[in-house]
Amino acid sequence: MRAYSDRRVAEVKQSAPAAAASAPQDAGDLVGDPPRADLAAPARLAGARAAFQPPPESEIPNDDFGEVIRRGREIFVDTPRAAAGYVGNSLRCVSCHLDAGRLADSSPMWAAYVSYPAYRSKTRSVSSFQQRLQGCFEYSMNGKAPPLGAPELAALESYAYWLASGATLDPNLPGRGYPKLAAPAQAPDHGRGKQVYAENCAVCHGADGAGQRGADGSAVFPPLWGPDSFNWGAGMGRISNAAAFIRANMPLGLGGTLTDQQAWDVALYMNSHERPQDPRYKGSVEATRQAFHDTDDSMYGREVFGKTLGASGPPKPFRPSIATASR
Ligand code: HEC
Ligand code: HEC
Repeated sequence: MRAYSDRRVAEVKQSAPAAAASAPQDAGDLVGDPPRADLAAPARLAGARAAFQPPPESEIPNDDFGEVIRRGREIFVDTPRAAAGYVGNSLRCVSCHLDAGRLADSSPMWAAYVSYPAYRSKTRSVSSFQQRLQGCFEYSMNGKAPPLGAPELAALESYAYWLASGATLDPNLPGRGYPKLAAPAQAPDHGRGKQVYAENCAVCHGADGAGQRGADGSAVFPPLWGPDSFNWGAGMGRISNAAAFIRANMPLGLGGTLTDQQAWDVALYMNSHERPQDPRYKGSVEATRQAFHDTDDSMYGREVFGKTLGASGPPKPFRPSIATASR
């Protein structure tokens, strides 16, 4: 687990200067701090608790089932390409579930797998694991849900099942989800969040939040907002989820170094920008806010600097992102 993580950080370290150079320097938007010194600093929260260890990848069986497991892993780390018909942005599952879904406190797939079927308040019904996966495609990937039993879902489910080899059937495994933060001492603040962003995030994710694509069109640094990111219905659109993810996992390789307050502030800032429409759109921003976002945890339908977030009209028809990946 550690080795994979360090490899990813090394990769990112190599591309970081390029990101810095090409990040649009909005007048006054960036205070111009260099990238944080040592991206490999061991500062994870995860180590604090004994978490389940998924098997090493070398143990994926060399048989027909192993092939499907490998396919699931491929979809997980290269989603726009490997599940092209269902993905509408440039994110990958691994963008939010780090280390190919292995990392504790980064909503790991082994902890998820042993937690379904489960009742979900979001859908007000019991979801099977495949139905939970469908939700990720619709919202986090701003895409289209593969039908139940589709090879893509079967492969992702097989990969998660295999990662959970030897785990207890228990929805409360340590390391599941993102560690929840206590309510912030001060109400999250846009101005402070902007500052945290400029100092700690913009170098990779860009001053405009659009991230950066590699030469092959895939996202090296995923977009945090804008048309190519997760949509308003996604879990990461909840300020509390975003704060928890960020506190534990960002800046990449420096998880656990921001204060809780900084994580809340920057989560509010991130989610105070426009992104694709909530696919559950009810015909107007007001009605949609009322139905799904009537909480302090969502900025949807709120006014930020004179603009109502989510006021972009009905959801755009689905377009696979692979068609736009070579922009
Ligand atoms: C934009 C970030 C993002 C992306 C991309 C994303 N997810 Fe998620 N995912 C989340 C968040 C946030 C949650 C909710 C975590 C929580 O409630 O603790 C979640 C939850 C899940 C869960 C349930 C976890 C649990 O413990 O119940 C599964 C399974 C899952 N995602 C799979 C996927 C798969 C597969 C993909 C790619 C097709 C994907 N996700 C893409 C952010 C993302
Ligand atoms: C060193 C580069 C780097 C820095 C700095 C960094 N990130 Fe990230 N971030 C990444 C990468 C890379 C991923 C995707 C994970 C992967 O590919 O392994 C990611 C993923 C994310 C995601 C989930 C995916 C998405 O697009 O929504 C969020 C949210 C996020 N980062 C927020 C932040 C915030 C907020 C900060 C500043 C506190 C920050 N990041 C700093 C590189 C970075």
